[in-house]
Amino acid sequence: MPSTRRSLLTTFLTLPLIDVARSSPFAQAAPELPLTPACDDEDELTLEREAGPFFRNSPLERDLYPDAPGGERITVAGFVFDTRCRPLGGSLVEIWHADENGDYDSVGFRLRGHQFTDGQGRWWFNTIVPALYPGRTRHFHFKVQRPGGRVLTTQLYFPGETRNAGDRLFDEALLLDIKQTGDGKFGRFDFVT
Ligand SMILES: [Fe+2]
Repeated sequence: MPSTRRSLLTTFLTLPLIDVARSSPFAQAAPELPLTPACDDEDELTLEREAGPFFRNSPLERDLYPDAPGGERITVAGFVFDTRCRPLGGSLVEIWHADENGDYDSVGFRLRGHQFTDGQGRWWFNTIVPALYPGRTRHFHFKVQRPGGRVLTTQLYFPGETRNAGDRLFDEALLLDIKQTGDGKFGRFDFVT
């Protein structure tokens, strides 16, 4: 049976937290254990990127796909960790991005939303793949704020995009891990803040 966005999200949401914690070289007494893929380089702070001109406040919403039903669906998901790879529940995660035509909604709240990570530090949005617009490679904008912490403003990118190499803001460290499913894409990224 082909995988779907929902099945990959379910898999993500049922990841045993112990596997995440085990990957931290700091969180337990066996730092020589190999790091798991889920947390192998996440002791470094996520790179910051400019917010750009299109940020505005967003509604509490994780299902943005109805804003652009003609777009290619994608579920983006991940954890928010601290630098010791401990999940940060209650963190604000906010997304905004261009629509299927490469336009931002500067009047209403299409393709803008925020949420708070669950008790295990997890977040996810159901949305569409943003179209390209002049001068930029394909990207999502994010703001992430741990409880009481600073605001991390950044952007996430797509692998295999021809424009990545020529975009001055692009960095491989901000690439989503994308899987193609039977009904769209599933992208994973873990923030460290
Ligand atoms: Fe943008």
